[in-house]
Amino acid sequence: MTDTAPSADLPAPPSAALPTALRDRAAALDAADPLARYRDLFAPSEGLIAYLDGNSLGRPLTATRERLASFVDGPWAARLIRSWDEGWMDAPTELGDTLGRVALGAAPGQTVVADSTTVLLYKLARAAVDARPGRRVIVADTENFPTDRFVLQGIAAERGLELRWITPDAEAGVTPDEVAAAVGPDTALVLLSHVAYKSGYIADLPAITRIVHDAGALVLWDLCHSAGSVPLAWTSPSAAPTST
Ligand SMILES: Cc1ncc(COP(=O)(O)O)c(C=O)c1O
Repeated sequence: MTDTAPSADLPAPPSAALPTALRDRAAALDAADPLARYRDLFAPSEGLIAYLDGNSLGRPLTATRERLASFVDGPWAARLIRSWDEGWMDAPTELGDTLGRVALGAAPGQTVVADSTTVLLYKLARAAVDARPGRRVIVADTENFPTDRFVLQGIAAERGLELRWITPDAEAGVTPDEVAAAVGPDTALVLLSHVAYKSGYIADLPAITRIVHDAGALVLWDLCHSAGSVPLAWTSPSAAPTST
């Protein structure tokens, strides 16, 4: 519940105002929480009661300070340019394999650590529309994350493509029927989020992927709010990736 004593500029923790029975129940749940021991691995943040923004900026681990210092003193300062051949060049795929195994259900060789989501999305969306020459439509939804939408708007303007918007129920998310109504022989690319960042809605990824592929288009899934949060099984090779 409460990580540290509140500082002067933060409100008192809500637990102070809770009825005793509710507070006792919360304390019992905290005590039985199998993840509770991980809290102490994080560097303290003064006045913090709860922090739910793990995607945009997660809390730093106490180990990170030491890891960064030993990185500067070790491979960087001591080995200098030799470090590229002594591990750095392989780090994106080695880390990718680890992340793929623990967070995506992906097989080795399927995940790589690279630029930010937005930079990668731009590269992938650009490559996708080039891979479908003659198809002039990109399909996306109005409730997707702003930067995802901005990237597509930029590519559509630059390439003279049409951006076709699905307007889903904002309290839920994009359905297979909405995608089926939006795609056709003119569609190059569909971009969607698997877990909607505002509503938490989980899209039917296998069904939608099939619909898009059946239309001859490509689909890009933003997994920002899926990876590490909901079970994923990304290994099924050429078939549509399945979420379980
Ligand atoms: C769903 C979603 N997509 C894209 C982004 C953009 O990520 P980045 O800052 O790595 O470009 C975010 C960031 O919070 C996000 O939540």
